[in-house]
Amino acid sequence: MSFSFSFIQHTILFIFIFFFIYNCNIVYSSTAFVAPITRDPSTELYTIFISSKTPLQPTNLLLDLGGKFTWFDCTPESYTSTTHHYIPCGTSLCISLTSLACSNCFRQSGPGCHNNSCALFPENPVIKNSVLAQALVDSVALTVTNGRNPVGQMGLVPNFVGSCSDNSLLRGLPDGVSGLAGLGRSNYSLPAQVSSVYASPNIFALCLPGVSSASSGAAFFNTGGPYYFLPGIDLSSHLIYTPLILNPVGFTIITYYGHPSDEYFINVTSININGKPVEFSHSLLTIDESGFGGARLSTVTPYTTLETSIYNAFVQVFVNESAALNLTATDPVSPFEVCYAASDVYSTPLGPAFPVIDLVMHSEDVFWRIAGANSMVSVAREDEEGGDVWCLGFVDGGEKPRSSVVIGGHQMEDNLLQFDLVSMRLGFTSSVLVHDTNCASFNFTDDPGV
Ligand SMILES: *[C@@H]1O[C@H](CO)[C@@H](O)[C@H](O)[C@H]1NC(C)=O
Ligand SMILES: *[C@@H]1O[C@H](CO)[C@@H](O)[C@H](O)[C@H]1NC(C)=O
Ligand SMILES: *[C@@H]1O[C@H](CO)[C@@H](O)[C@H](O)[C@H]1NC(C)=O
Ligand SMILES: *[C@@H]1O[C@H](CO)[C@@H](O)[C@H](O)[C@H]1NC(C)=O
Ligand SMILES: *[C@@H]1O[C@H](CO)[C@@H](O)[C@H](O)[C@H]1NC(C)=O
Ligand SMILES: *[C@@H]1O[C@H](CO)[C@@H](O)[C@H](O)[C@H]1NC(C)=O
Repeated sequence: MSFSFSFIQHTILFIFIFFFIYNCNIVYSSTAFVAPITRDPSTELYTIFISSKTPLQPTNLLLDLGGKFTWFDCTPESYTSTTHHYIPCGTSLCISLTSLACSNCFRQSGPGCHNNSCALFPENPVIKNSVLAQALVDSVALTVTNGRNPVGQMGLVPNFVGSCSDNSLLRGLPDGVSGLAGLGRSNYSLPAQVSSVYASPNIFALCLPGVSSASSGAAFFNTGGPYYFLPGIDLSSHLIYTPLILNPVGFTIITYYGHPSDEYFINVTSININGKPVEFSHSLLTIDESGFGGARLSTVTPYTTLETSIYNAFVQVFVNESAALNLTATDPVSPFEVCYAASDVYSTPLGPAFPVIDLVMHSEDVFWRIAGANSMVSVAREDEEGGDVWCLGFVDGGEKPRSSVVIGGHQMEDNLLQFDLVSMRLGFTSSVLVHDTNCASFNFTDDPGV
């Protein structure tokens, strides 16, 4: 059921984009862009639709917020483009690219080369794998928006720098995906290159669609707003801000010596549940000199992970506060450890009525509020007594994780997040359901204007 639904959804989107690409004009001046985001129910990952190659082709990529650069499956059967080319070794582009995203150059030994061209290590963050592959240059294009609708034009990024990979790196990714869109802090991420070509501020925003959404969420590039969602709500007016923190040590699968992380960290200083503080060692929320600790945002982590001591304290307070609402935990369903019979729980416009979780930032009055729709996961228990359950959608991240808190996709859905690389701050709305809209309510119907 959910497969066929998602298939239809993708097909409609595909037809829409295909139709669109062949009926549009191209802009070259400073402008804002929008791209649809879909949630893949089987992998619980998110994909972003852009256009790439020449002639432009609809391209569905895994959305990776922390990714350094974008990569495409370049196997000849799947990659045809008249504008694609490799980067010769020793050119300034190659040196800049490999010194930033250094591959087989360990410290001073110089940029990486593979088959006589500039080489990178594209990564698959889901199966945690990487291959040595040639960097490439080709065209990418995005849909122009006025903040309310697409306006019937596209913006081209003619010399977009990314990487090839082979199709082994597509393992574990949603069906139909042909690569990965890297949205990290690096100069070669998708938002950085799009803003540099259009001389626009590097500010982008994500609104991930909720689990039960029938249509796509939205990503905005080159714009601090407005971001209008039906019925006419500008979510940029509901943002509050916290600084983006730099982690001095970058490592995902490959360690890039001497380079700061391209992932986004924020200054979570405490966690409250219904106003009750969760007690744990707060030094876990500080990033140490080897890059461990702190709180990171990740679109490739389905559910927020908490370091074991934080997780245990968090669950205790949550269970206790739920008990005060007369809710008693029932048998858990893996990977979750705390579940409640759905029949016992009231529903509200913000999801099931459970204690609210606040991630408190740099200041007491700046907090990200997580209500039932984002804290709980609905799990169907088909053959068991007791029926469906709501499970606490946070998981134990282990004892020595690289980041103590990894805020995952489920907690970001139906929240608008704005990454402002000019002011180095994160804007967040908490649940937009409060404003009687949701992330699947951007109007993707063309408004060509007058
Ligand atoms: C090396 O590059 C050449 C020309 O660019 C190409 O034909 C060949 O398939 C490449 N070999 C490998 C192993 O990538
Ligand atoms: C990235 O770009 C900015 C602005 O163009 C520049 O100041 C900075 O040095 C670049 N960083 C790297 C690592 O190339
Ligand atoms: C649980 O609730 C009881 C009573 O409200 C309180 O005394 C106790 O400190 C709470 N424990 C935790 C871990 O919050
Ligand atoms: C919990 O149950 C008790 C006894 O049935 C009742 O008096 C109380 O009002 C309930 N509390 C809530 C928050 O529903
Ligand atoms: C995080 O916020 C606290 C409280 O305002 C502040 O003391 C600390 O310096 C901040 N950390 C960073 C890395 O900015
Ligand atoms: C979406 O935008 C189109 C084009 O402006 C408009 O005709 C349509 O009424 C909008 N849809 C809704 C539900 O407002």
